[in-house]
Amino acid sequence: MSERVVVGVGGGIAAYKSCELIRRLKEGGSDVRAVPTEAALRFVGAATFEALSGHPVDTGVFERVDEVQHVRVGKEADALVIAPATADLIARLAGGFADDLLTATALVATCPVVLAPAMHTEMWLNPAVKDNVETLRRRGVVVLEPASGRLTGSDSGPGRMLEPAQIADATRAVLAGWRPSRALEGRRVVVTAGGTRERLDPVRYLGNFSSGRQGVALAEAAAQAGAEVTLVAAATDELPTPAGTTVERVESARELEEATRRAAAGADAVLMAAAVADVRPAAQAEAKLKKSAGGDALASIELQENPDIVRGLVAARKDGELPAGVRIVCFAAETGDETASAREFGARKLKAKGADLIMVNEVGEGGAFGSADNEGWLMRPDPEGDEPIVAEVPRGPKLLVAGRIVEELAGLLDGSND
Ligand code: C5P
Repeated sequence: MSERVVVGVGGGIAAYKSCELIRRLKEGGSDVRAVPTEAALRFVGAATFEALSGHPVDTGVFERVDEVQHVRVGKEADALVIAPATADLIARLAGGFADDLLTATALVATCPVVLAPAMHTEMWLNPAVKDNVETLRRRGVVVLEPASGRLTGSDSGPGRMLEPAQIADATRAVLAGWRPSRALEGRRVVVTAGGTRERLDPVRYLGNFSSGRQGVALAEAAAQAGAEVTLVAAATDELPTPAGTTVERVESARELEEATRRAAAGADAVLMAAAVADVRPAAQAEAKLKKSAGGDALASIELQENPDIVRGLVAARKDGELPAGVRIVCFAAETGDETASAREFGARKLKAKGADLIMVNEVGEGGAFGSADNEGWLMRPDPEGDEPIVAEVPRGPKLLVAGRIVEELAGLLDGSND
């Protein structure tokens, strides 16, 4: 049976985006019900929500009283997502009010509750709102960090509602078990994502199929856990920028190395999710290489090895160029062969690179590249033995996997994994 998701809609201009959220959740196979507030209906009509969700729409506690609707909707839900969550609605939720169908539903719900705040920056930064958000988070409500960007007027700053695709992804991850904590509060984290492009001439490059999704999900999970995140992004699919992150765009492995090293200097951790090309063309032509010009320029390309950035970071830490406490996390997309399994190759890579943690996944049919899901093993060196300590990461949305990595990293940083 499909999960039942209740989409609560607050009275803010971002209410129009909740229509897209409902559509996406429905397309993902969920049974979606919209519960707008009265104020939300001033922005979007009930007919729109009814048509998109396929369910009737009510706002008050005195409708469908015979069905005890104000209790039933919350009890039956597998997840309650409120988008946009306005400052007023957040206050009413924190206060435990139950004066309309949405707040009553939230009080009854024992399922996970996700809020996507949307308000002006001044409101988001106001101590009253901050306290309310903290109260809700303490009670286990997942309050997603809002994006920074253009608000309703000409102003811009944190408070913009996340894109519907991001909220739908977060909902999927929450339904699969993601329960973000604030375990990286006060930490600075560098995440690399995407595939590098190594230029051959002004129109050609050597690249790879990395979508950047796992790296972007990691940046999102780390920011959600309270970290200050720098995302060093090589080529990625069209993905919305994760909230609460500073994005630095790079192209080649050497640019990625430079940006990562610079950001790592003040960081607590570096998570190397980027797919870095192992080689680059030995020379970059200033002009487009011509097929017709004597043939050889394109028929064989001389390659040169790229630096191994993870090894470079580990060496820099050893040499005191990076803080001794900086944690280095790497990734391994492996295939097994007749000599060893993907897992075994991953364990060897952890050792060879000298990293503190590795996320190993097996690639091939239905593997991780470009997919919305991931799975594998998280491994860290055992201080007392030769074999790594391994935790299995079951298949799930990349944000859920990212959440697991963030938890493990938080444990490494505060020493609680040992
Ligand atoms: O050796 P392999 O490419 O399988 O290792 C993957 C890990 O090493 C990833 O974390 C990737 O970001 C990192 N890497 C690197 N520099 C390279 C190649 C990969 O840091 N030149």
